[in-house]
Amino acid sequence: MAETVEQKQEFSRGLEGVIAAETKIGYVDGINGILAYRGYDIETLTNQSNYEEVSYLLLYGKLPSEKEYIEYVSELKKEMYIEDDVYELIKKISRTAHPMSSLRTVVSYIGGKDKTSVDPDVKQQEEIGIKLIAKMPTIVAAIKRASSGEDFIKPDPELSYAANFFYQSAGRKPDTVEAKMMDTALILHADHGMNASTFSAMLTISTLSDMYSAITSAISTLKGPLHGGANERALALIKETGSPDNAEKVLSEKMEKKEKIMGFGHRVYKVYDPRAKILKGYAEYITKKNGQEKLFQTATKIEDLMVNRLGEKGIFPNVDFYSGILYYSIGFPPDVFTPIFAVGRISGWVARSYEYVQNNRLFRPRSRYAGEKAPRRYVPINERN
Ligand code: CMC
Repeated sequence: MAETVEQKQEFSRGLEGVIAAETKIGYVDGINGILAYRGYDIETLTNQSNYEEVSYLLLYGKLPSEKEYIEYVSELKKEMYIEDDVYELIKKISRTAHPMSSLRTVVSYIGGKDKTSVDPDVKQQEEIGIKLIAKMPTIVAAIKRASSGEDFIKPDPELSYAANFFYQSAGRKPDTVEAKMMDTALILHADHGMNASTFSAMLTISTLSDMYSAITSAISTLKGPLHGGANERALALIKETGSPDNAEKVLSEKMEKKEKIMGFGHRVYKVYDPRAKILKGYAEYITKKNGQEKLFQTATKIEDLMVNRLGEKGIFPNVDFYSGILYYSIGFPPDVFTPIFAVGRISGWVARSYEYVQNNRLFRPRSRYAGEKAPRRYVPINERN
């Protein structure tokens, strides 16, 4: 019998190292520690730009003119509201569900209400994407408040994207530094190559399904502890460690049990994650301001020990190690950290799905069969032991 493709070809577990798409959106250089969106490195963007502009850049490939910027921001503001039944749904499910599960359900529910999601053309996919970018902070903030038993706060059209998210979540307007920190964190999370959740969104849209479904897939994928869920667990590790003096003991015990240390290592970066460098600076500032220096000192001790032990293997802090401390210090509960990641990443998910569907090719990898050879003899149930 002739050999099949699956038998002939080498395969890569977890698609590691496989290049499955071409993009002009974002560039990740894991060897030299570079992350750039449309050619602009993230240090420049976090210093000089803001989330709305970065979102436009990811979606349309260029920095907006003043007119384009004003139009894009007003479109986001027009679409940032959610309806009363959505708030009711959030109230109901957030009593028991993890915020990421609530987020997944809410995006799917909103999609079900939107008639343009039935059989969208490319233009409608783009429009749905913008609606989702606009609504994401409102949804996540509402989930945060419902899970903590707090009343909802509606968006304030005077505030920026990041400040509005902070305001609706915390119930107070951020000061200038808090608003800048939030904006920076959202920019840093906006896009990151063909990571698992982005791939998930692209895979879904490649079947010509709708953008709501693509984003629902992405949220489901981001939830896992090997991806977005690591920030919650990284903070838990730092809190469990309690003080720099305990770090050696806690790490040794975990590593003896072959446990992965959350917030360290990356499939692509084999050097210090450039996002972690920026977030570390903010985490130091805010923990000092809020009298939580011990958290930061414990984290840096864990970092030193990990880099000593595993730096040679390319294991360094990733984006999730310091983001957790930062969010916690500005008052977010740990189970909302991954939804915050989603608020940032929504622009990357939409941009990459939109880019892909404009030049679509159905994703359909294969798997090597390693089971019993066919044809097997079928054994009737009364003859089986
Ligand atoms: N703690 C301890 N050892 C580790 C860690 C870690 N966090 N990460 C990797 N290693 C070791 C691993 O045990 C292995 O050692 P050995 O060669 O002795 O078997 C070696 O480093 C290579 O690890 P790997 O698991 O094959 O590497 P990978 O490319 O599959 O892992 C990863 C990438 C992110 C899944 C992994 O580093 C990990 O599980 N990290 C913890 C979870 C985490 O922080 N995830 C967030 C990722 S960043 C957010 C994002 O962009 O999604």
